[in-house]
Amino acid sequence: MKNFAHLPPTTRLGDLEVCRLGFGAMQLPGPMVWGPPRDPAAARAVLRRVVELGINLIDTSWYYGPHVSNALIAETLHPYSDDLVLVTKLGGRRTDDKGWASALRPEELRKGCEEDLRALKLERIDVVHLRWIGHTEVPFREALDAMIALQQEGKIRHLALSNVSPAQLRDALARTPIVGVSNLYNVAHGEQRLGSLPHASTEGQEEIVDLCAANGLAFLPFFSLAIPGPPRRNEALSSVAARLGATETQIALAWLLARSPTIVPIPGTSSPAHLEQNWAARTLALSQEDFDAISAARA
Ligand SMILES: NC(=O)c1ccc[n+]([C@@H]2O[C@H](COP(=O)([O-])OP(=O)(O)OC[C@H]3O[C@@H](n4cnc5c(N)ncnc54)[C@H](OP(=O)(O)O)[C@@H]3O)[C@@H](O)[C@H]2O)c1
Repeated sequence: MKNFAHLPPTTRLGDLEVCRLGFGAMQLPGPMVWGPPRDPAAARAVLRRVVELGINLIDTSWYYGPHVSNALIAETLHPYSDDLVLVTKLGGRRTDDKGWASALRPEELRKGCEEDLRALKLERIDVVHLRWIGHTEVPFREALDAMIALQQEGKIRHLALSNVSPAQLRDALARTPIVGVSNLYNVAHGEQRLGSLPHASTEGQEEIVDLCAANGLAFLPFFSLAIPGPPRRNEALSSVAARLGATETQIALAWLLARSPTIVPIPGTSSPAHLEQNWAARTLALSQEDFDAISAARA
C-alpha cells in the first residue's frame, strides 16, 4: 500500500529553500494577539527552540501585537542565520478595540513594510504577502502594483498572496512572479476558526492548493491546526490518531503535509511542548487509506 513516509522535507519560496513545517508567530503576543506575552521569557524560549529544531520559516507581521511578534523575533534571533526565511504580510491593521481591519491603500502598505523592516532589523524582507481583505474600496490590482513597487525598490525579495481567490491568484501570476499563497486551509475546512476571522475565505481552496503545486508555489495554510471539536468531529482523524499513538493535532498536520508537496503548515504556538509535538508530526507516515478516510470525513 502506498504511504506518505517519503514526503519531500523541503520546498521552495522562489529561490529560498524552506523546511515543510514553519512557525507562525501570531500566538506569541498576549491574549487576542494584543500586547506583550504573559510570559516574555517563555515566548523567547519558543523562538530559540524553533531555530534549534531546524525550522527555517517564521511567519509574522507588524500588526501581531501590534509590533510585539516582530520585536520578540528581532531581540531573540537577530542577527539571523543565513537560512532563516522571514515571511511577513501587509494589508491588515489593528483597531483600538483589538479588532482587525484592512490597510490596503498604497501608502498604508508602504508604511507597514517600513515598520516590518525597522522592527525586524532588515534591509529587505524575504517574502511579503499581500494580505487581501474584502470589503475594501482599494482595487486588487492597485494594491498589487503598490507591492510590486516596494519590491522594485529592493525592500521585498519575493511577493506572495494571502486570503485570495483562484481568480486573484491567476490575475497576479499574469502580472508578476508570485512565490506562494497563504490561505485558510485545514482538515476541518476551516469551519472551526471562521467565526473568529470574518475576513477569511474558504472558497476555492482545493483549486488553489493544486494551482500552487502545479506552478511550484508554496502554500502556507493558516489556522492549519483546526483543533478538532464541536461543531463537527472528524471521526477518521480521531481513529487514525489513536492507532498511531499521535494527537489529533499531529494528524491534522500530517494530513496537510500529505495533501500536497508544496504545503508548508505554519502552526502557531506559545507553548514549548506544543512546538515539539508539531515538529514531530512531520515524521508521521499516513497510509493512503488513512489519508483517504480523513479526506472523505472532511468532505
Ligand atoms: N495570512 C493570514 O491572514 C493569517 C491569518 C491567521 C494566522 N496566520 C498565521 O498562521 C499562523 C497559524 O495560525 P494560528 O496560530 O491562529 O492558528 P493555528 O496554528 O491553527 O492554531 C493555534 C492554536 O492552537 C494551539 N496549538 C498549537 N499547537 C498545538 C498542539 N500541538 N496541540 C494543541 N494545541 C496547539 C495554540 O495554543 P498554544 O499557544 O497553547 O499552543 C493556539 O491556540 C499564525 O501564527 C500566523 O503566523 C496568517
